[in-house]
Amino acid sequence: MTKKLFIKTYGCQMNVYDSARMADLLAPLGFAQTQTAQDADIVILNTCHIREKAAEKVYSELGRLRRLKDRKAQAGAPMLIAVAGCVAQAEGREMLARQPAIDIVVGPQSYHRLPEMIARIARGAGHALETDFPAEEKFDALPEHTALAGVTAFLTVQEGCDKFCTFCVVPYTRGSEFSRPVTQIEAEARRLASRGVREITLLGQNVNAYGGPGPDGETWSLARLLGRLARIGGLERLRYTTSHPRDMGDDLIAAHAQEEKLMPYLHLPVQSGSDRVLRAMNRQHGAEDYLKLVARIRAARPDIALSSDFIVGFPGETDADFEATLALVRVVDYAQAFSFKYSARPGTPAAAAPHQVAEDVKAARLEILQSLLSRQQAHFNARMAGRTLSVLFEKPGRKPGQAIGRSPYLQPVHVAGAAHLIGTIRDVAIEAVQPNSLKGALGDLRPAMRAAREVALH
Ligand code: SAH
Ligand code: SF4
Ligand code: F3S
Repeated sequence: MTKKLFIKTYGCQMNVYDSARMADLLAPLGFAQTQTAQDADIVILNTCHIREKAAEKVYSELGRLRRLKDRKAQAGAPMLIAVAGCVAQAEGREMLARQPAIDIVVGPQSYHRLPEMIARIARGAGHALETDFPAEEKFDALPEHTALAGVTAFLTVQEGCDKFCTFCVVPYTRGSEFSRPVTQIEAEARRLASRGVREITLLGQNVNAYGGPGPDGETWSLARLLGRLARIGGLERLRYTTSHPRDMGDDLIAAHAQEEKLMPYLHLPVQSGSDRVLRAMNRQHGAEDYLKLVARIRAARPDIALSSDFIVGFPGETDADFEATLALVRVVDYAQAFSFKYSARPGTPAAAAPHQVAEDVKAARLEILQSLLSRQQAHFNARMAGRTLSVLFEKPGRKPGQAIGRSPYLQPVHVAGAAHLIGTIRDVAIEAVQPNSLKGALGDLRPAMRAAREVALH
């Protein structure tokens, strides 16, 4: 008899990847995925601890699940609740104390232990908590991708972080930097390609710090890894995220000029444009360093779409510091960006720093920054009107026959009469620019891969 598994994923793409791996791991035990908690035998919350709100969401979801669990128990349908991810890692023991309905707490490095943890609960052995294993063991023990693959996929190549930015929980929840071996990654990418995946995004908290053992015994950089993966037939597009400005090597910048399959999009978080704040954040670079880096990247690939993360209201941030952030944003001119109010995270150095910024000041600064960033995004998108872009069609749209794909710059593109083209790359003439997407029509039949390069944006 099949049992049902419901996974709810919060946070970053690495959690999305991990959730898929957990589903693959539990499938041989008879667990089929379902879309609601109501009919699940086991619910896994794959959690995020990055900001206070993210963690709070998990506790309120757990409250709802506890009531569901009670109702189901009365109806004779027991349900297990497992908490995975970064909240599990950061405060697993407190969670068990605060919410007794939790059966399993499993940290990001311990997912391969899930089957035995579930078995232990089934034997009536109480709660199970696993939060300390090296990432190495995790990747060796997790199964191959087995679920039906889509057109695009994530592939984690690097985990953990040694940077210790003073605001950030990731070094504590994901542990120290670990890079998977090249051959293991290549085998996974080949399997994905053979299942129809056309685009892979390589993931890591610091993906451009990747340094994994290569088949030749040398340590390979991300650029070298990308070059290797670009040779895989059927795999048409490569992306990677998230990059740290300090780890943007010359060979990686050069890859953006030379590697056709590497898409012209780069998420390169800067957090702040103030040197004083950057120093207090322990980012290990100044605003000028970042601008010089951006110039070098644009010299290699002039049309590249740049994206970033920003934090406003970091402790001690003054109006002048915030102005410096706006000034940097004006110079860079982003295609897209994420911005957040600083959120004090327990145990991180900045949480205990003096001069915490008032909530209303943070809110006001965030509004100003977001309106500047959304104007830049709208401007970037507006420049696509009338151009031909290569689009990888990923899924059906809402209207009959419509398909939604992505441009090389990661913009969603809606095209009528393209549903039969899902899984393929086609030239699309951009007819209209909408707030968050582009609308196009199937264009001329020039080779799609050339189209991206023909777009001269600057
Ligand atoms: N490794 C990436 C960031 C990973 S976390 C990097 O170094 O840039 C994703 C984003 O969450 C960060 O870029 C940052 O903008 C935001 N973030 C992290 N901690 C935060 C905090 N305490 N408060 C608000 N935003 C935070
Ligand atoms: Fe967090 Fe900084 Fe590491 Fe990014 S580089 S994950 S912000 S500690
Ligand atoms: Fe969140 Fe953990 Fe990712 S804290 S952003 S899920 S690494």
